[in-house]
Amino acid sequence: MTTGPAGATTSDQGRWWAGSVGYEVYIRSFADSDGDGVGDLRGLCDRLDYLAWLGVDIVWVTPFYPSPMLDHGYDVADYRDIAPVFGTLADFDALVEKARGLGIKLLVDLVPNHTSSEHLWFREARSSRDNPYRNYYVWKDPVGGGPPNNWTSHFGGDAWTYDEVTGQYWLHLFLPEQPDLNWANPAVADEFDAILRYWLERGARGFRIDVAHSLVKHPDLPDNPRRQGRGLTGVEDPGRTADPSGLEHIYDMNQPGVLDIYRRWRRVVERYDGLLIGEVYVLDIERLAPYVTGQDGLHLAFWFRPLHMGWSERNVRQVLAHAAALSEGTIAWVQGSHDRPRAVTRFGGGQLGRARALALATLLMGLPGVPFIYQGEELGLEDGRLAREDAQDPVALRAGDYVGNRDPARTPMPWAPGPGLGFTTAPSAWLPFGDRMDADTVEVQRADPTSTLHRYRRLIALRRETPDLHRGRVRWLEEDGPVVAYRRGDIVVVANCGEESTVWQTPVDPNRRRWTAAFATDVKRDDSIIDPFVPLAPCEALILRPGD
Ligand code: GLC
Repeated sequence: MTTGPAGATTSDQGRWWAGSVGYEVYIRSFADSDGDGVGDLRGLCDRLDYLAWLGVDIVWVTPFYPSPMLDHGYDVADYRDIAPVFGTLADFDALVEKARGLGIKLLVDLVPNHTSSEHLWFREARSSRDNPYRNYYVWKDPVGGGPPNNWTSHFGGDAWTYDEVTGQYWLHLFLPEQPDLNWANPAVADEFDAILRYWLERGARGFRIDVAHSLVKHPDLPDNPRRQGRGLTGVEDPGRTADPSGLEHIYDMNQPGVLDIYRRWRRVVERYDGLLIGEVYVLDIERLAPYVTGQDGLHLAFWFRPLHMGWSERNVRQVLAHAAALSEGTIAWVQGSHDRPRAVTRFGGGQLGRARALALATLLMGLPGVPFIYQGEELGLEDGRLAREDAQDPVALRAGDYVGNRDPARTPMPWAPGPGLGFTTAPSAWLPFGDRMDADTVEVQRADPTSTLHRYRRLIALRRETPDLHRGRVRWLEEDGPVVAYRRGDIVVVANCGEESTVWQTPVDPNRRRWTAAFATDVKRDDSIIDPFVPLAPCEALILRPGD
């Protein structure tokens, strides 16, 4: 069992995000203020009170930049502006202002691995081999009449596209319209220093960094070896997002030089007390740790293994305990995102999936680092049900991969019963709603104290009120069996992750006080006195504090 320094201290102790809870807003699908069927910044601003009521402290907003939207905004055409469909810079400023008043910190989604092919830099770069912007991207001569190496795009096909005009290939780990930037060129690094400062000056409190593991490639661009069995990430990934091809991703990600970029950015953001969180899509914690544990790189990294784990007591215990032990409090814990099927769906759907997701959320709330909620998770949403012909995601359109299609996790947020679900006044939204029921909506759940929404709200409030849930050492209590439990300070967090009911013997409080359920997934148990032998139904979780 992993014990050791498991979160003994966290390197971010004392920083403003210690003890925080984060929330991911997928801007296209959060709230539409102008009736065009697409979520926007004013819509988010109008709903910020809801997020404050929910209790979250940090809001990461997915890209809102001008973009051809071929990857729904992750193809950035201008890093210093807002796409008209999402609003204006004045809307961003108003959002910052309102967030500040509510004590919410906004994180901007920074996309530094690639731009859109519509970005001025790429249009210039493409115009001739001696254009000053040429070296902002990765260009190579054909080899044997074909692409320079065997790399493949995460969205299917070659990672290289031939440019007829200049007779060279450009590199793109995603769509051809998302050319990779050349981070070996110091001018690119200078550009991004200025972009970081631009948003920090405008009031952003930090950044979520897209594809943070891949900015630097091996300078010789060697072929990646063919994949034998499981890929570099160590798990099978039918969803393609993490392990997209039959190749071992040795040379197109995880190059040591990438850490220099984050050291440099750390110096930029420290002046503003800004936070850097990496989307480091490495499912192996030993490989992830160097990005965050050096005290001079990223502050936090998302740990995506829980998004790729089948439900079992063993998996839950291992995935959490091992990561908590090695990461020194630098993990942003997630169980969902706009790139993966929703947790409730992955964990079996319906009541079962919902119960498992809530049990996992309970366990995540007290681990060292910062837990993040993906919009709609607090409602216990399943994936939206969509027809094949509704597909908009390049994973489905280009890779023809309907299993990995990310649209079902991106359907619009259900705010209230009725047409448009309180999301939009348009007759239809950019993506269908996916068969939401009244009981899925914020309005209905807010009025029902027994709802999933109220469970999340209580969980978040408890974290805020209980310093022991975000400082000090984590001691895991059970080495095997259905119960996953840990102790942090005076608090015990416990979940039955097995298939059967069980009876669990609580630890003895040093002062022999009885335990009280400060939080229970079963609302009827809130605030109840807990027996030393406590029955736990499958997926039942509790946070215990010593009673009087
Ligand atoms: C990240 C984003 C994903 C996007 C990809 C390319 O993984 O989360 O949505 O498609 O980067 O930018």
